Amino acid sequence: MKNRSLVSINDYSKEEIIRILDLAEEFEKQPHQHILDGRVIASLFFEPSTRTRLSFETAIQQLGGNVIGFASAASTSVSKGESLNDTIRMVASYADLIVMRHPVEGSARFASEVSRVPIINAGDGANQHPTQCLLDLYSIRKTQGTLDNLNVTFVGDLKYGRTVHSNVIALSKFKTKFHFVSPIELKLPSAVKRYIKEAHLSYEQYTDFMEVIPKSDIIYMTRIQRERFPDPLEYEKVKNAYVLENAMLDNSKDNVRILHPLPRVNEISTDVDANPKAYYFQQALNGVFVRQALIATIMGVK
Ligand code: CP
Repeated sequence: MKNRSLVSINDYSKEEIIRILDLAEEFEKQPHQHILDGRVIASLFFEPSTRTRLSFETAIQQLGGNVIGFASAASTSVSKGESLNDTIRMVASYADLIVMRHPVEGSARFASEVSRVPIINAGDGANQHPTQCLLDLYSIRKTQGTLDNLNVTFVGDLKYGRTVHSNVIALSKFKTKFHFVSPIELKLPSAVKRYIKEAHLSYEQYTDFMEVIPKSDIIYMTRIQRERFPDPLEYEKVKNAYVLENAMLDNSKDNVRILHPLPRVNEISTDVDANPKAYYFQQALNGVFVRQALIATIMGVK
């Protein structure tokens, strides 16, 4: 795993995923370790972010590393027309590792092919978000004690939701029972369902959210992403399709936990926040430990 890019969660085997999660447990116990002294990590965000960028930068600083980069391409020479190829080649000559978020699907793979240092994909369009996936798996294992034989329900925008795509691919490596709740227009793409079929696992699709709540161990809510819709009218039709309210959890299992990659808009009512089954803020914190484990592994210091 040393010096290897992480572009898709499928770049990692089941054993490699588990290794990252185990190491993240160590970082959760001791997040301040000076193991990146003198290393420079570039944080290139061509698309908005709160959690991913700041948790990566927190992770790096707690490990004694230095961060360079930008939170918006508007302040860089991309605004003068510089290509992604040239930007990556330049930054790779300054940094030991590049963390990149970009709105174009496939951009992270392209960057990994032109960069002399490893690339971590922090989200490429509607395609993949592998580090979110790792922190989601960490959160699932931490709350359920296992990644096997769980009923995992994904709700909302399963078509454009890159976190859903990465999670389905990763959970297909475990014995997951998948449940998908979405408007017809936002169903999970066949290319992602293929991973479930190849693993000989089953899935069920629903439009009625209430039907699936009592069987779920994990309910993974997602935002309907206005920015991914080519036609704004299509967004208006589905934007309030599924809203989780506290009373809807009355018949849920004791062990169920509500996850959400965040940001939320209105798909989880704020009255859920005080319910002990709500886990999304702790989930975001887990991102620091998982990203520490990932960086330490790729930099070869753990
Ligand atoms: N979960 C996630 O990717 O959040 P940000 O867009 O705030 O980074």
